[in-house]
Amino acid sequence: MSKLPNTTASIFSVMSQLANEHNAINLSQGFPNFPVDKRLLEISERLLTENIHQYTPMTGLPSLLEKIALLTKKNYDRIINTNNELLVTSGATQGIYTAINALVNMGDEVIILDPSYDSYEPSVLVAGGKPIRISLNDDYSPNFNRVEDAITAKTKLIIINNPHNPTGKVWDEQDFEALETLLEKHTHVLLLSDEVYEYISFKHAHISINTRPKLLNRAIIASSFGKSLHVTGWKVGYLIAPEPLMKEIKKIHQFLVFSVNSTAQHIIAEYLDIVDFNEISTMYAKKRSLFQEAIKKSRFEILPSEGTYFQVVNYSEISDKNDVEFAKELIKNHGVAAIPISVFYKDAIDKKMLRFCFAKTDDTLLNAAHKLVKI
Ligand SMILES: Cc1ncc(COP(=O)(O)O)c(C=O)c1O
Repeated sequence: MSKLPNTTASIFSVMSQLANEHNAINLSQGFPNFPVDKRLLEISERLLTENIHQYTPMTGLPSLLEKIALLTKKNYDRIINTNNELLVTSGATQGIYTAINALVNMGDEVIILDPSYDSYEPSVLVAGGKPIRISLNDDYSPNFNRVEDAITAKTKLIIINNPHNPTGKVWDEQDFEALETLLEKHTHVLLLSDEVYEYISFKHAHISINTRPKLLNRAIIASSFGKSLHVTGWKVGYLIAPEPLMKEIKKIHQFLVFSVNSTAQHIIAEYLDIVDFNEISTMYAKKRSLFQEAIKKSRFEILPSEGTYFQVVNYSEISDKNDVEFAKELIKNHGVAAIPISVFYKDAIDKKMLRFCFAKTDDTLLNAAHKLVKI
């Protein structure tokens, strides 16, 4: 019997394939199409001829662990113990999957806030857990009354994602305060915080769970160098978690992955000395403005994009087709690929919304916008 009977090809593969078939501009999948930093390539070229090709220690290359600890101290003023609170993973996806499978037992409930990133639910199902999917508010802020109503004695974990894919919503200080108040009441509930877009926050500086002392002893935090360094194909990320939780996570990691790609770890460790993460938000803020400005005259309604490299638009003025159909039509008839938002909901709730990824060259964005304003 299938463990994931309802899982089919992801919408990202479907839309990208369709985009290729129709030679459409691909603003669907979340990855940059501009070149990576030359300095990163120079480091790669030099290091690839050195002795960096064998297994690293299971939890990560020691120099990379040290650099991540320094980064966490610098950005969030949190001191982490590299021996027992940190794990390098094959991207955030593997980190999230591993954490869930280490901590969720058969029948445990996991609260997921919809619209939600597509890897959460299957990871819970493989663990034998029960995903409890509840909707965010209409403006995509968290609704803590709904979260509280969903908590039972079986709730093991709440998964949050900030800045948020697909909507670009960013949590505010009061959201974190409400979460703290809630979790203070429900001491058996753990928190998994997906912060892969931590460096792309336009509304205000990113508020990381790393900066919330009340939550640290029960929080697993997932980060992604793929997103932060524009190298999504390298699949390197990391988890931070308190020792008792990390101990269990490592048990699964050592048999699922053992050591993450050594070359990528060595290169990233060196690159972390020179990269300036502050530049990332500024760069993407410019792309967001360029894209928003360029589609302003279109019939798409532009929703706020407070973080991430995603722009959600409402197309109800253009069509009353459902969003999956409309996204396909957009590729076939107009040459632009986007992701329909309904796929991020349990019941495929269709609000006539599409997600565009603006991690693209200015030319790509302008060409896409040129097509979109004509619709
Ligand atoms: C919210 C969210 N979490 C996790 C990931 C996966 O990150 P990685 O490529 O490091 O596995 C993504 C990638 O799109 C994402 O959008």
